[in-house]
Amino acid sequence: RKPVSLPRLQEMRDRGEKITMLTAYDATFAAVADAAGVECILIGDSLGMVCQGLSSTAGVTLETMVYHTESVVRGLRRVQGTAWVIGDLPFGSYHESKEQAMRSAAQLLHAGAHMIKLEGGGWTADTVRFLVERGVPVCAHLGLTPQTVHSLGGYRVQGRDEAAARTLRTHSLELQDAGATMLVLEMVPAALSAEITVALPTCHTIGIGAGKGTAGQVLVMHDMLGINLGKNPKFVRNFMDGAASVRDAMAAYVAAVKDGSFPDDQLHAW
Ligand code: KIV
Ligand code: NA
Repeated sequence: RKPVSLPRLQEMRDRGEKITMLTAYDATFAAVADAAGVECILIGDSLGMVCQGLSSTAGVTLETMVYHTESVVRGLRRVQGTAWVIGDLPFGSYHESKEQAMRSAAQLLHAGAHMIKLEGGGWTADTVRFLVERGVPVCAHLGLTPQTVHSLGGYRVQGRDEAAARTLRTHSLELQDAGATMLVLEMVPAALSAEITVALPTCHTIGIGAGKGTAGQVLVMHDMLGINLGKNPKFVRNFMDGAASVRDAMAAYVAAVKDGSFPDDQLHAW
């Protein structure tokens, strides 16, 4: 297999093949996800919750993101993995200035990430342009942005009313214009995320709880393996059901995204 690159992702997009993404935080799971055919591996700051036991992602530091990115990248190198590696910029590491964002992004790229992800719209467009001009591929993230869960008032669907939907559309277009080549849409109504996807031919939408109309899908690994005690968000499917191994579960996820059987529209109508 050839390494996944931005041109390859654009080719997939152009021929209508869905892009698959999973989070991973360590060497072994990253290698397994790669072997299962997952194209994009996100070292998400969700590691704050699933690895560190924090109550939100706001407490994750850049140092921690660098540590986990290095672990994932070593795991992929060991198996000659081909996945595209995206590192999350944590809360506070890109908010002060474009220069601060560039310094933080450089740390994740030094750790081996191919692309960085940052949350929010509007004020982030200038930062995205600054990074992209300097050779940093950027994935944006709109809708439910967990780093600001407290100002959003909880983990809830975003872009429901017409004013919020308009803002989401505007921010999406601005981010593509600034050079973002991926955009995570989290907990956004299916019709809205499908519409945004059509409007963004060079910025690939990756949905989580956003219906099946996006260019790709992402899930938190622990969620799709069904190993979280307590309540999972309702858009999650447990791919360990009927799977003989973690690798099989991840391969089932890839197959389901590719053939359109995940996500289930019923659960994503919001
Ligand atoms: O941190 C994370 O895992 C994420 C995904 C849910 C998109 O940002
Ligand atoms: Na994240």
